[in-house]
Amino acid sequence: MKIAEKWTVSRIRDMKGRGRIACLTAYDFYTAQLLDEAGFPMILVGDSLGMTVLGYETTLPVTMEDMLRHTAAVVRGTRRALVVADMPFLSYQISVEEAIRHAGRLLKEAGADAVKIEGGLARAETIRRLIENGIPVLGHIGLLPQSVRAMGGYRTQGRTPEAAEQLRRDAQAVENAGCFAVVLECVTPTLAEEITRTVGIPTIGIGSGPRCDGQVLVVNDLLGLTSRPPGFARPYAQLRPIIADAFRRFRQDVETGAFPE
Ligand code: KIV
Repeated sequence: MKIAEKWTVSRIRDMKGRGRIACLTAYDFYTAQLLDEAGFPMILVGDSLGMTVLGYETTLPVTMEDMLRHTAAVVRGTRRALVVADMPFLSYQISVEEAIRHAGRLLKEAGADAVKIEGGLARAETIRRLIENGIPVLGHIGLLPQSVRAMGGYRTQGRTPEAAEQLRRDAQAVENAGCFAVVLECVTPTLAEEITRTVGIPTIGIGSGPRCDGQVLVVNDLLGLTSRPPGFARPYAQLRPIIADAFRRFRQDVETGAFPE
């Protein structure tokens, strides 16, 4: 592989206005390999692994060790895609110093190319300091799953004029702080379109309508593995019944002596 083929944060930033960016989450080596081979420019090791892999109800219990282990597996499966690792809850909120130490571990020990941080204006200083220290940051505004307790649930964001204004300020703040792109999660489609028009970095939407510069989905939702996927996620395969059937047939074959022959 020529190193020039590798997706970098500047290549992703340069995609603004030039084409759409497709992104999926991955939490393991094999999924990362398949996404990389399918030509995805960016793979997100989301802290959604708290639900999809570890069986928690929210992302809140996810630890740095969880993120380090899964990010390292994804990096091992990736040659070209940019690997972005989520900073887990309380790894960047307490102080800028802790944020730098934890983000640094994701790059240094797990091999991530960049980190993602939830929050806009309130996180601008942390984002600025991470970037100053050589750690690229993907912003994340709108619905912030790590703040689900404070937000009172998983709801569409930006519905009132005040909430919309706050999101405009958040988008501007993460751009000014130096993020190479920003995730817009569950932002009303009209506001997501407006933000996409007004910021100079790519917007990556999830549940925010079709007018963003890119789209990200949780891979389990796309593959039909989740029992209750969000309404905006389109399943491109229905693997849950196929896997369940394979498991059932193997069990029966062992029990009846049909396997091994
Ligand atoms: O954790 C995650 O998977 C995310 C998304 C943007 C899908 O943050």
